[in-house]
Amino acid sequence: MTPSSKFEDIIPPFTIKPLRNKARFIAIPSTSGTGTEVTCVAVITDRNKGVKYPIVSYEICPDIAIVDGDLCKTMPPNVTANTGMDALSHDCEAFVATLDSNYTDALAAESVKMIFQNLPKAYNDGNDMEARQAMHDASCLAGMSFTNAILGIIHSMAHQLGGMFGVPHGRANALLMPNVIRYNSKSTDKYRCLAQIVEKKTAEDFAQEVEKLRKNVGIEDSLKEYGIEENIWQEKLDAITQNAMNDPCTGTNPRKPTLKDIKKIYECCYNGNFVDF
Ligand SMILES: NC(=O)c1ccc[n+]([C@@H]2O[C@H](COP(=O)([O-])OP(=O)(O)OC[C@H]3O[C@@H](n4cnc5c(N)ncnc54)[C@H](O)[C@@H]3O)[C@@H](O)[C@H]2O)c1
Ligand SMILES: [Fe+2]
Repeated sequence: MTPSSKFEDIIPPFTIKPLRNKARFIAIPSTSGTGTEVTCVAVITDRNKGVKYPIVSYEICPDIAIVDGDLCKTMPPNVTANTGMDALSHDCEAFVATLDSNYTDALAAESVKMIFQNLPKAYNDGNDMEARQAMHDASCLAGMSFTNAILGIIHSMAHQLGGMFGVPHGRANALLMPNVIRYNSKSTDKYRCLAQIVEKKTAEDFAQEVEKLRKNVGIEDSLKEYGIEENIWQEKLDAITQNAMNDPCTGTNPRKPTLKDIKKIYECCYNGNFVDF
């Protein structure tokens, strides 16, 4: 083997060798949340280490997505609630992310409107197929938005709650979202556009509307209420703070957080307090 061909065999970091030379990738979601059927993102959970690893590459974006709300008919209410709040968090992060654009904004804004209108209906009546399909479409629109604009620290922080404490992904997002909106609103005024969609005015109004929606679909107000024990929480807090800082989603958050900021946001979300910094 010549030195040059040896060099060509080396796979550079952060790349995946080209896939799909033999098969096409068709994705069919059975929940209305991740948007993974249209994204370049996948998440691997290492339950032994308590860590989630997002993989990001356009090589893993499906070729074809089949978005059929009928498949969601059997989702129980708590999964409907968690996954629907995941989709909303994709919108709320993509809309203000540093890679946002007119295209990703339009997708996220429409998706926010559809989720506020349809998530309570799908949660209260799983056989409401109009609401089910609307939630499925909203999740896919959110996926198209965030696979281009990427996400922010709701996801960086939620990944740790899932990995370390087993909090379902969408529920973790729902518990963090209002306080991250408050935190980010010091760096962007774009939440006012989302507030207008729900007939409100300010970022704080929007954060409170998210809290109301969260309550309406049976999600508690704090991580303490969710059931994470205080001594275990205190023991793990520094580790999850550091891991959230290192998560790839932190890079596109509109406000650059310090470790201290992330820790304080976690503490507020644990105790059910408002972020005011
Ligand atoms: N784009 C991405 O790749 C992306 C985005 C966000 C989240 N994630 C990751 O996705 C994972 C969560 O996926 P999820 O929210 O789809 O939940 P899930 O796949 O964990 O499903 C939740 C539960 O619902 C059940 N279920 C799924 N579909 C059902 C149906 N139609 N009827 C009845 N039960 C059903 C599952 O068996 C499971 O018990 C997390 O690890 C999260 O980090 C990935
Ligand atoms: Fe998500």
